[in-house]
Amino acid sequence: AKEPVRVLVTGAAGQIGYALVPMIARGVMLGPNQPVILHMLDIPPAAEALNGVKMELVDAAFPLLKGVVATTDVVEACTGVNLAIMVGGFPRKEGMERKDVMSKNVSIYKSQASALEKHAAANCKVLVVANPANTNALILKEFAPSIPERNITCLTRLDHNRALGQISERLNVQVSDVKNVIIWGNHSSTQYPDVSHATVKTHSGEKPVPELVADDGWLKGEFITIVQQRGAAIIKARKLSSALSAASSACDHIRDWVLGTPEGTWVSMGVYSDGSYNVPAGLIYSFPVTCRNGEWTIVQGLSIDEYSRKKLDLTAEELTEEKALAYSCLS
Ligand code: NAI
Repeated sequence: AKEPVRVLVTGAAGQIGYALVPMIARGVMLGPNQPVILHMLDIPPAAEALNGVKMELVDAAFPLLKGVVATTDVVEACTGVNLAIMVGGFPRKEGMERKDVMSKNVSIYKSQASALEKHAAANCKVLVVANPANTNALILKEFAPSIPERNITCLTRLDHNRALGQISERLNVQVSDVKNVIIWGNHSSTQYPDVSHATVKTHSGEKPVPELVADDGWLKGEFITIVQQRGAAIIKARKLSSALSAASSACDHIRDWVLGTPEGTWVSMGVYSDGSYNVPAGLIYSFPVTCRNGEWTIVQGLSIDEYSRKKLDLTAEELTEEKALAYSCLS
């Protein structure tokens, strides 16, 4: 039998945590043959709720779930973990300045970076979900220098999946027949959902999305804003932010990273920029990537027209500003 994989979920008593932990325990993230031990971390005010989640995990009798650690102790939570899904964070509350939220999260991600660096298993892979996701991931990377930078990523797969969903609705095709959309940049409203290279499987072969939609105005207008603003639309409808779709996308992100992307398919991941596509190096930026043997590689050589170039630069500028703001919170 396979050795269990230890998966940390921070903020596990929250909304996304509640949707995510049963998916992990059912094998949605790592496959139906991979046993798991869940490590769940939250803060003391949520300790009782966290224990309730643990009780429900026991009650669900998941065959793959070989153990549950539910704790408010960061060291205990991080010890020996192979995967860390960072969902915990400080939410923006009404009347709060961006800088105040940034400051709270920078200090959380700085201290959790040190705990992971000291106590996680070698080669631990990290996915940051909590907002500001790209910048939290960057801070985590800066304060965990011994974790290889290729192991630290942030979630833009939800935006990627939203883009697939919108194209599938518009063309009335199966979402599984749409592929190779791209989310560039920040997980924020400056992200650039790009369908220039996306395709749909049809009876007469793969067709480019721009050819099938044949309405450049929609692709450059409504489509982009729907994807950028989808989070806000969910909050408006549900009075709570996206949770099941965020949890499902986090599973997709890790599954593809660990088990590989299908041949000819790429996905979007927030990763440490090496300067590809003239995106400033040293930002956590969402790129199209393929994955193999547990490693991601940025898809190279895609043509970027002038329209797209501006959008790639705009979201990079926002990330550069966020980085400066994060650093100003540290000093
Ligand atoms: P939530 O507020 O329901 O849950 C967050 C949990 O984190 C709470 O249980 C809280 O007690 C815990 N927490 C706070 N500080 C912590 C710390 N220092 N250590 C451990 N746990 C801590 O929020 P929800 O809806 O689950 O969202 C979580 C985060 O994910 C938010 O930052 C949200 O903005 C972000 N998000 C990101 C998405 C993405 O696509 N990247 C999509 C949707 C949400």
